[in-house]
Amino acid sequence: MRFCFAALAALALTIDAARGQKLFEACQSCHSLDPAKAGMAGPHLARLKGRVVGSAEGFDYSPAFRAAKAQGWVWDEARLAAYLADPDSVVKGGWMSAPGLDDAAERAAVAAFLLRP
Ligand code: HEC
Repeated sequence: MRFCFAALAALALTIDAARGQKLFEACQSCHSLDPAKAGMAGPHLARLKGRVVGSAEGFDYSPAFRAAKAQGWVWDEARLAAYLADPDSVVKGGWMSAPGLDDAAERAAVAAFLLRP
Protein backbone atom coordinates (compact mmCIF):
# COMPACT_ATOMS: atom_id res chain seq x y z
CA MET A 1 0.00 0.00 0.00
CA ARG A 2 2.72 2.41 0.95
CA PHE A 3 4.51 1.70 -2.31
CA CYS A 4 1.28 2.35 -4.16
CA PHE A 5 0.89 5.83 -2.63
CA ALA A 6 4.51 6.67 -3.40
CA ALA A 7 4.01 5.62 -7.01
CA LEU A 8 0.85 7.73 -7.26
CA ALA A 9 2.62 10.76 -5.79
CA ALA A 10 5.47 10.34 -8.29
CA LEU A 11 2.97 10.04 -11.13
CA ALA A 12 1.12 13.19 -10.01
CA LEU A 13 4.41 15.09 -9.98
CA THR A 14 5.23 13.87 -13.49
CA ILE A 15 1.86 14.99 -14.81
CA ASP A 16 2.26 18.37 -13.10
CA ALA A 17 5.71 18.84 -14.63
CA ALA A 18 4.42 17.93 -18.09
CA ARG A 19 1.69 20.55 -17.76
CA GLY A 20 4.28 23.00 -16.49
CA GLN A 21 6.47 22.37 -19.51
CA LYS A 22 3.60 23.39 -21.76
CA LEU A 23 2.88 26.50 -19.67
CA PHE A 24 6.57 27.40 -19.70
CA GLU A 25 6.30 28.15 -23.43
CA ALA A 26 4.91 31.54 -22.38
CA CYS A 27 8.14 32.28 -20.51
CA GLN A 28 10.46 31.31 -23.33
CA SER A 29 10.26 34.69 -25.02
CA CYS A 30 12.50 35.84 -22.16
CA HIS A 31 13.95 32.65 -20.62
CA SER A 32 15.94 29.78 -22.07
CA LEU A 33 16.61 26.40 -20.48
CA ASP A 34 20.00 26.37 -22.18
CA PRO A 35 22.75 28.00 -20.07
CA ALA A 36 24.78 28.62 -23.23
CA LYS A 37 22.11 30.74 -24.86
CA ALA A 38 22.99 34.39 -24.18
CA GLY A 39 21.21 37.61 -25.08
CA MET A 40 17.74 36.80 -23.73
CA ALA A 41 15.77 39.41 -21.74
CA GLY A 42 15.82 37.12 -18.68
CA PRO A 43 18.37 34.72 -17.14
CA HIS A 44 18.46 31.06 -18.20
CA LEU A 45 16.41 28.80 -15.93
CA ALA A 46 18.31 25.54 -16.24
CA ARG A 47 18.86 23.46 -13.08
CA LEU A 48 16.82 25.85 -10.96
CA LYS A 49 16.33 23.41 -8.08
CA GLY A 50 18.46 24.62 -5.20
CA ARG A 51 20.00 27.33 -7.37
CA VAL A 52 20.92 30.56 -5.61
CA VAL A 53 18.61 33.42 -6.60
CA GLY A 54 20.22 35.70 -9.20
CA SER A 55 23.13 33.39 -10.01
CA ALA A 56 22.88 32.64 -13.75
CA GLU A 57 26.38 33.34 -14.99
CA GLY A 58 26.73 36.28 -17.34
CA PHE A 59 23.26 37.73 -16.73
CA ASP A 60 23.06 41.36 -15.64
CA TYR A 61 20.54 41.22 -12.77
CA SER A 62 18.71 44.12 -11.13
CA PRO A 63 20.14 45.50 -7.86
CA ALA A 64 17.20 43.82 -6.08
CA PHE A 65 18.28 40.40 -7.37
CA ARG A 66 21.92 41.05 -6.55
CA ALA A 67 20.89 41.86 -2.96
CA ALA A 68 18.88 38.61 -2.75
CA LYS A 69 21.87 36.68 -4.06
CA ALA A 70 24.14 38.30 -1.46
CA GLN A 71 21.76 36.95 1.19
CA GLY A 72 22.14 33.47 -0.27
CA TRP A 73 18.48 32.89 -1.11
CA VAL A 74 17.76 29.65 -2.93
CA TRP A 75 14.89 28.69 -5.26
CA ASP A 76 12.46 26.14 -3.88
CA GLU A 77 8.79 25.34 -4.57
CA ALA A 78 7.32 27.87 -2.14
CA ARG A 79 9.57 30.74 -3.17
CA LEU A 80 9.08 30.11 -6.88
CA ALA A 81 5.28 29.79 -6.63
CA ALA A 82 5.15 33.07 -4.68
CA TYR A 83 7.46 34.75 -7.20
CA LEU A 84 5.27 33.65 -10.11
CA ALA A 85 2.18 34.98 -8.35
CA ASP A 86 3.74 38.36 -7.60
CA PRO A 87 7.47 38.86 -8.32
CA ASP A 88 7.63 41.96 -6.12
CA SER A 89 6.40 40.02 -3.09
CA VAL A 90 9.62 37.96 -3.19
CA VAL A 91 12.23 40.26 -4.75
CA LYS A 92 11.00 43.79 -4.33
CA GLY A 93 12.03 46.09 -7.17
CA GLY A 94 13.17 43.33 -9.56
CA TRP A 95 12.80 43.73 -13.30
CA MET A 96 10.43 40.89 -14.13
CA SER A 97 6.82 41.96 -14.44
CA ALA A 98 4.07 39.55 -13.35
CA PRO A 99 4.24 36.57 -15.71
CA GLY A 100 0.47 36.28 -15.95
CA LEU A 101 -0.09 32.89 -14.33
CA ASP A 102 -3.28 33.72 -12.47
CA ASP A 103 -4.09 30.16 -11.48
CA ALA A 104 -2.33 28.68 -8.43
CA ALA A 105 -2.36 25.20 -10.00
CA GLU A 106 -0.62 26.60 -13.10
CA ARG A 107 2.04 28.24 -10.96
CA ALA A 108 2.58 24.99 -9.08
CA ALA A 109 2.87 23.11 -12.38
CA VAL A 110 5.49 25.53 -13.75
CA ALA A 111 7.37 25.34 -10.44
CA ALA A 112 7.28 21.51 -10.57
CA PHE A 113 8.65 21.63 -14.12
CA LEU A 114 11.46 24.10 -13.38
CA LEU A 115 12.41 22.43 -10.10
CA ARG A 116 12.33 18.85 -11.38
CA PRO A 117 15.43 16.96 -10.24
C1 HEC B 1 9.15 39.88 -20.52
C2 HEC B 1 10.23 39.00 -20.11
C3 HEC B 1 9.95 37.92 -19.09
C4 HEC B 1 8.95 36.96 -19.10
C5 HEC B 1 7.84 36.76 -20.11
C6 HEC B 1 9.19 36.13 -17.94
N1 HEC B 1 10.29 36.57 -17.25
FE1 HEC B 1 11.16 35.68 -15.62
N2 HEC B 1 12.57 37.16 -15.52
C7 HEC B 1 12.69 38.21 -16.43
C8 HEC B 1 13.78 39.07 -16.02
C9 HEC B 1 14.24 40.33 -16.74
C10 HEC B 1 14.33 38.49 -14.85
C11 HEC B 1 15.51 39.03 -14.00
C12 HEC B 1 14.91 39.97 -12.96
C13 HEC B 1 15.88 40.94 -12.34
O1 HEC B 1 17.09 40.93 -12.61
O2 HEC B 1 15.34 41.75 -11.56
C14 HEC B 1 13.55 37.28 -14.58
C15 HEC B 1 13.81 36.40 -13.52
C16 HEC B 1 13.17 35.20 -13.34
C17 HEC B 1 13.54 34.21 -12.35
C18 HEC B 1 14.71 34.30 -11.37
C19 HEC B 1 15.90 33.55 -11.98
C20 HEC B 1 17.19 33.62 -11.21
O3 HEC B 1 18.26 33.51 -11.84
O4 HEC B 1 17.18 33.77 -9.97
C21 HEC B 1 12.67 33.16 -12.49
C22 HEC B 1 12.65 31.89 -11.67
C23 HEC B 1 11.75 33.51 -13.56
N3 HEC B 1 12.08 34.75 -14.05
C24 HEC B 1 10.71 32.70 -13.99
C25 HEC B 1 9.81 33.02 -15.03
C26 HEC B 1 8.73 32.17 -15.44
C27 HEC B 1 8.42 30.80 -14.89
C28 HEC B 1 8.06 32.84 -16.44
C29 HEC B 1 6.81 32.42 -17.18
C30 HEC B 1 5.66 32.06 -16.38
C31 HEC B 1 8.75 34.10 -16.65
N4 HEC B 1 9.81 34.16 -15.77
C32 HEC B 1 8.42 35.03 -17.60
C33 HEC B 1 11.90 38.41 -17.55
C34 HEC B 1 10.78 37.67 -17.91
